[in-house]
Amino acid sequence: MHNKLASKHLPSKPYLKRRAVPVRELNAGHREEILQHLLQLNEEDRRLRFGTQTPDEVIQRYVEHLDFNKDTIFGCFNLNLKLIGMAHLAYLPEIKGQVRAAEFGVSVLPEGRSQGFGTALLQRSAVHSRNTRIETLYVHCLTSNKAMMHLAQKAGMSIEYAHGDADAYLKLPPANPSTIVEEAANEQWADMDYALKQNLKRSNQAWWWFLGRPKLAP
Ligand SMILES: CC(C)(COP(=O)(O)OP(=O)(O)OC[C@H]1O[C@@H](n2cnc3c(N)ncnc32)[C@H](O)[C@@H]1OP(=O)(O)O)[C@@H](O)C(=O)NCCC(=O)NCCS
Repeated sequence: MHNKLASKHLPSKPYLKRRAVPVRELNAGHREEILQHLLQLNEEDRRLRFGTQTPDEVIQRYVEHLDFNKDTIFGCFNLNLKLIGMAHLAYLPEIKGQVRAAEFGVSVLPEGRSQGFGTALLQRSAVHSRNTRIETLYVHCLTSNKAMMHLAQKAGMSIEYAHGDADAYLKLPPANPSTIVEEAANEQWADMDYALKQNLKRSNQAWWWFLGRPKLAP
């Protein structure tokens, strides 16, 4: 099967048709932002993301237990530095004789959808997986989740269906010098993008302090 994400051209292709999306690796200092992001998902989005009804308390516990040393969490920020999309790359326990695998879970707030954030988060997670010796990237989703099914198919994932659930797998080739450079460049670019947005936000706030905050059009 042609595997677009796993090909050596993986890094830049999928989001070329739209604007490029910088993806940052998050750390424990982002826990509150991650919590606020997930709490903004409505009931249906939470069901699609976690596969079951997920009340606020469960989300709180999930965020408290995120282990940033073991797993990798990626995020995309909008101009106001709001965490608009996030992905959790969870490394599955290593089993002797089996390939190393990781599970990908993603959410993008409704206001940010269909702008390439989900694709960029999947793409960054796939490159990071390759660079950390993961051979299979796995996504569990509901077959009714049209957007995620579309993302998975677009990434060239193999999909197995069972009782309304779908397991999508992406077989990843080993890392090579270009995947290492790709990830380092992406990280630097995301840091620079974040710093620029931070400056823009600060300068806007300074102007608003002088002139008053402009009213948004109804
Ligand atoms: C799935 C999700 C992460 C996608 O995020 P996104 O930022 O909108 O993703 P992108 O913009 O990169 O791509 C979405 C693609 O799905 C397509 N799409 C969106 N809704 C669709 C639908 N109902 N049917 C078919 N395709 C759909 C878009 O057109 C786009 O396709 P394109 O890239 O070929 O144009 C987002 O919808 C979400 O957070 N959903 C709730 C949580 C969830 O389902 N998580 C996945 C399970 S872990």
